[in-house]
Amino acid sequence: MKLLDDIREQAKIRNKTIVLPEAHDDRIIKAASILQKEGIARPILIGKIDQIEKQATDLNVSLDGVKIIDPEGYERFSEFAETYYSKRKKKGVTLQDAERIMVNPTFFGAMVLEKGLADGCLSGADTSTGNVLRAALHIIGTAPDIKTVSSDILLITPDEKNVWSFADCAVMPDPSSEQLADIAIATAETHRKVVKEEPIVAMLSFSTKGSAKHPLVDKVIEATKIVKQKRPDLKIDGELQLDAAIVEKVGEKKAPGSPVAGKANVLIFPGLEAGNIGYKLTQRISGCEAIGPIIQGLNKPMNDLSRGCSVEDIINVSAILCNLA
Ligand SMILES: CC(C)(COP(=O)(O)OP(=O)(O)OC[C@H]1O[C@@H](n2cnc3c(N)ncnc32)[C@H](O)[C@@H]1OP(=O)(O)O)[C@@H](O)C(=O)NCCC(=O)NCCS
Repeated sequence: MKLLDDIREQAKIRNKTIVLPEAHDDRIIKAASILQKEGIARPILIGKIDQIEKQATDLNVSLDGVKIIDPEGYERFSEFAETYYSKRKKKGVTLQDAERIMVNPTFFGAMVLEKGLADGCLSGADTSTGNVLRAALHIIGTAPDIKTVSSDILLITPDEKNVWSFADCAVMPDPSSEQLADIAIATAETHRKVVKEEPIVAMLSFSTKGSAKHPLVDKVIEATKIVKQKRPDLKIDGELQLDAAIVEKVGEKKAPGSPVAGKANVLIFPGLEAGNIGYKLTQRISGCEAIGPIIQGLNKPMNDLSRGCSVEDIINVSAILCNLA
């Protein structure tokens, strides 16, 4: 797919370091070997050095040039634990808890990212989404001016002529208008960095420009106002129905003069139910390819993998992280 090829090529130019904490998983070892060999990213693996080298030999792959850090015995381990403790002590975490938590590869990997030793972190091949997000929230935190972590899924048409960002489809069940505004701003930036297109953001609803009155519509109108105040540079409009957002003729009729109607490439759903069902409908019925979820709103790029992920998926998401870093 051209978009993924472009993302990989851009990653090579950006020459970023990605920490892959789940080195006990063969798919991670294979992906790290390819990332290094093809120059897509410089991987760091977390785990026991002897064990990882043996795994690579058994798999017949080279880890030449790949950095491996074993949390146990790592010279900065105490500093990592102290940092975790200072971030979480207000929540009742003790230094002993922090030392125990830092042995967990996903939390350790997030700290490698936080300390600036890597540009991105990718986990989830063998870790639940909840734990990947928790490590990210506890250690990395949210970006300045953003309080909400959410996700973007890219939907690519079979002819590859259109790429839409759909959000949020995986994290925030029932966003408030402020959270919806955060989701819109974060998704616009993800779209710009990954798809390399100017984002044109539609705040979706079952109403277009007052055609229906309901508190759910008011939430979307309020979110649109907040985004316009916070980011007057963004091309955004709402509330819009889906057809008014992406079909030019409908957009002209239902929202004349809108800079977004009929042209939107970033679709912000009013809640997780609509977003999750909407992306799966598009994927299954139209044959669009879905890429993601890309986690956004964090202060540094960290992403989740599906536990059923392939080596190719790990390489693609690593390349996306390099574009976000
Ligand atoms: C994200 C998730 C792990 C947070 O769970 P949680 O129980 O609130 O986690 P914690 O209590 O450890 O909270 C971490 C902190 O982040 C905050 N937080 C939770 N969700 C957040 C979000 N989306 N954005 C920003 N902050 C968030 C919490 O309020 C908490 O803040 P605090 O430490 O100041 O109290 C949880 O909502 C989750 O598992 N979501 C499901 C995701 C999923 O499975 N999606 C489907 C597959 S992709």
